[in-house]
Amino acid sequence: MSRSVIVTIDGPAGTGKSSASALLAERLGFDMLDTGAMYRAVALLALEAGIAAGDGALIAAALDRSVLQVDFSTQPPIIRIDGRDVHIRIRDTDVTSIVSQVASHREVRQRMVEAQRHVALTHARLVTEGRDQGTVVFPDAAVRIWLDARPEVRAHRRAEELRAQGIDVDDAAVLRDIANRDSSDRGRSEGPLRQPVGAVVLDTSDLSFAEVVDRLEAIVRECLAAAKARCGGVSA
Ligand code: DC
Repeated sequence: MSRSVIVTIDGPAGTGKSSASALLAERLGFDMLDTGAMYRAVALLALEAGIAAGDGALIAAALDRSVLQVDFSTQPPIIRIDGRDVHIRIRDTDVTSIVSQVASHREVRQRMVEAQRHVALTHARLVTEGRDQGTVVFPDAAVRIWLDARPEVRAHRRAEELRAQGIDVDDAAVLRDIANRDSSDRGRSEGPLRQPVGAVVLDTSDLSFAEVVDRLEAIVRECLAAAKARCGGVSA
């Protein structure tokens, strides 16, 4: 297939977007773009440069002096800053605690949107996940999906992930963190977290990880085969 086929997967934190998107992309033979990782890398850049998370202009200037690269030579792809692999470091709590604020700046979002569209030029079959992929970055994507889950389920999943990494947390604290991040992501004026109009909605609250990936694969294959309007995009 020579035409570009983009599948967007958006939704709040803790819906399992990243891991489900990675496996979905593998099954479809598509590349996968984790746009949250890109914003996390920008947050790390700000931390390392000693720039306040609220200073969009300084963060943008630091970005312009750096090379932020999504390296597709590994599976799943990893994120690099000036060649340095930061894909583990960007998951640390100091990054997580400021990323939503860093991602709220217009100057930062403009650069990320441009970089994400650039990736799509060279990776024509792409599963891309984040908060604004189906609304702002690729509104004409062939398939647009909204993943959701009840907040307490999302908090429990995130807490289990952190415990698996040896980090001691309780579900209530994680739920507060997720609620804060959701409200900040939804409330910003630039690229807010929002369900794309017409997107296919999948609530993962009562599904296992395997079931989520199976459902996603079925949705995409059905949409691409039938080019249905209900897939939330233009025909593939
Ligand atoms: O999916 P994640 O938790 O790794 O995302 C990290 C943060 O980045 C999250 O608070 C929202 C922000 N983000 C965004 O604003 N736009 C995107 N397309 C992806 C993530």
